[in-house]
Amino acid sequence: MIKNNLIKRDKLEYGDFQTPLGLARKICGWLKKQEIKPQVLVEPTCGYGNFIIAALETFPSIQYVYGIEIYKQYIAETEKKLEPFVKTQNITVKIIQDDVFHFRFNDIAKKHQPESILVLGNPPWVTNSELSAKESDNLPTKLNLKRVAGIEAITGKGNFDIGESVTFSMLKTFSESNGYFAFLVKNIVIKNVIQSQQQFVFPISGLQQIDIDAKKEFNANVDAGLFFARFNKTPAINCCVSKSFDQPVNRSFGWTNRKFVADIERYKKSAGLDGDSPEIWRQGLKHDCTAVMELTTTENGYKNNLNKTQTLNIEPDLIYPLLKSSDLKDQVITKTNKNVIVTQTAVGQNTDYLATDFPLTFDYLDKHREFFDKRKSVIYKNKPSFSIFGIGDYSFKPFKVAISGLYKQTQFSLVLPIDNKPVMLDDTCYFLGFDLLEEATCVMYSLNQPEIQNLLHSIVFWNAKRVITKDILMRLNYVPILRRIEINKMLEYAERQQLTLSKNIFIKNPSSIFGRQHQELLWQ
Ligand SMILES: C[S@@+](CC[C@H](N)C(=O)[O-])C[C@H]1O[C@@H](n2cnc3c(N)ncnc32)[C@H](O)[C@@H]1O
Repeated sequence: MIKNNLIKRDKLEYGDFQTPLGLARKICGWLKKQEIKPQVLVEPTCGYGNFIIAALETFPSIQYVYGIEIYKQYIAETEKKLEPFVKTQNITVKIIQDDVFHFRFNDIAKKHQPESILVLGNPPWVTNSELSAKESDNLPTKLNLKRVAGIEAITGKGNFDIGESVTFSMLKTFSESNGYFAFLVKNIVIKNVIQSQQQFVFPISGLQQIDIDAKKEFNANVDAGLFFARFNKTPAINCCVSKSFDQPVNRSFGWTNRKFVADIERYKKSAGLDGDSPEIWRQGLKHDCTAVMELTTTENGYKNNLNKTQTLNIEPDLIYPLLKSSDLKDQVITKTNKNVIVTQTAVGQNTDYLATDFPLTFDYLDKHREFFDKRKSVIYKNKPSFSIFGIGDYSFKPFKVAISGLYKQTQFSLVLPIDNKPVMLDDTCYFLGFDLLEEATCVMYSLNQPEIQNLLHSIVFWNAKRVITKDILMRLNYVPILRRIEINKMLEYAERQQLTLSKNIFIKNPSSIFGRQHQELLWQ
């Protein structure tokens, strides 16, 4: 049942951001340059019809137009705008009020089998979690969800874009027809289509992404572009990217040697290092209780965010220095005024000891229990009081090599103990932990060498919410770089960074600075 006869409705819920006619015309102009000659136009969420108008102005070959739209007001508006075309051109136009997730697009594909179909449009850019926050039911049907569940398995994300679901459902319906696909979508959707080509293998090729300025066109802070494909061709697994409609291709991304990469040309130079990290990258500490757990150092003592005037009277034992993504700016980090209370040494550890061993800390935490009770994530359910996550032996290693997961940069930082305590990282960061400064310095130095940096730049998709992930870091095999380190150069670097390394150990017994994991790989 279509409920969208409302005069006013939530634009966000329906991803209702109509494509400006100027942009729709620019896109159709570009499509014409691709020498396409569509006979049938399908606009699956046509809004008030700007794409249909631009396509009819550009392609006199079009004989049939199908526009589907959920919002009744737009149907009449579109029909009216199309009247001049219907009068002067020999075309059949059907603008239908329906839900894109229910409409039988298969019938169109069947009816126009030999003809050239252009599937053109701009589906809603809204995610399922944004919809569930609005308690909206503008979601794909079970059939489409099944497809989405498959994508999720590949991309590892539970939060998918409705535009992504429409994209996959259109490709499923029309990719075996003759014709073309041209959709304005978030770039992450294009990435997910190409990533899934390994498994779903739509018969599409000539894949292109043309970036648009989404801020200017839609006031949206997201990377987006036109996704173009030709139907009924040998499946392609790579996509060419241009920065704008009048620029040449500047990179291509997709599958190469069974690896999914963001810049294929760049990747070739460092492909040999794309393997397995010798050490396990760890995500930092998660507690979801900043107000109580995070403390700042002041001249008079520790304070929390709840009461900036009063210092806290708690034992210092469980208070550790803390760094967040935004603190990982320098190559060597020796300072912070942030701290965190570390209530466990391993995930799930019983916290009863707090009351007896650290009564002041316990009283403080207990007094603020309501903040812990408010933590929404299921991971805290049925867990010991004041539980934290992302904690283990590795958290207490004195020397760490760390990187931010959120910032668009690939520098690795060396984190040194502060006031003789190991520094904790929050869950926006990833790190490796070491017992010796010498080993940590060698690893940080290797990871910052151009070969690894180039590899990272060629596999990172900058438009992801979390740019650097554990999966990406686990691909960095820095052992060949570690093996080739020129000790003198590295010692000079260390000196410049004011790191006091034991030079003797490097000269006399370099293997002794490495832990078991590295030793096995370095001297095998
Ligand atoms: C981003 S706008 C784009 C409109 C048009 N394609 C354009 O480019 O100007 C998305 C459109 O999808 C419509 N829409 C949202 N959910 C829909 C659904 N379930 N079925 C059909 N249309 C829907 C909205 O009403 C809106 O007009």
